[in-house]
Amino acid sequence: MDQGDVMAGLPMKWVAVAGIAVLAVAGATLVLSGNGDTPMPEAADTARGAVLYAENCASCHGAELEGQPDWRSPGPDGVLPAPPHDRTGHTWHHGDGMLFDYTKLGGAETLKRMGVTGVKSGMPGFGDSLTDAEIRDILAFIKSTWPERERELQRQRTLAEQMKGN
Ligand code: HEC
Repeated sequence: MDQGDVMAGLPMKWVAVAGIAVLAVAGATLVLSGNGDTPMPEAADTARGAVLYAENCASCHGAELEGQPDWRSPGPDGVLPAPPHDRTGHTWHHGDGMLFDYTKLGGAETLKRMGVTGVKSGMPGFGDSLTDAEIRDILAFIKSTWPERERELQRQRTLAEQMKGN
């Protein structure tokens, strides 16, 4: 064994030891974050969202997220029927921020903030009856029903929306 082999062998041992240390720290961090009171930011509760959807949204958007019949044509009063929230609708064309605002503030207020006037909205705001976390759970439930393609496209809309500072 010449000097070169010894030198080459040393760092490998150190890399292995360092690797174990990193794993141990990562393990401890996981355990710690698992029992803290701070909820993980992505921890939306889709099961609770499904219950809240049935209670608050299904009457218009349908128990199976199918929307109301002829949802693309406004009724005699000029108000649009409720669109589906499944992949046949256009909910997945919008980023998280817009979906959240539309649910919390309602259609009229959201459209007004977007500069759209003269549209009669049939979508009520839920800011007084649902907490922000409940709204996020409902949206997480709706998203969980979409196929991967729609989920991915919607994720990109959300990123684009965030880049615009929304
Ligand atoms: C009284 C009927 C009604 C109820 C209840 C209702 N919606 Fe709506 N919603 C509508 C209508 C009608 C529209 C179509 C757009 C408009 O008129 O502003 C709509 C549109 C939306 C949109 C925009 C979709 C898009 O593609 O533009 C979202 C998001 C939405 N609703 C979420 C919800 C959620 C979540 C709930 C339950 C918390 C809910 N809605 C309850 C009637 C309703």
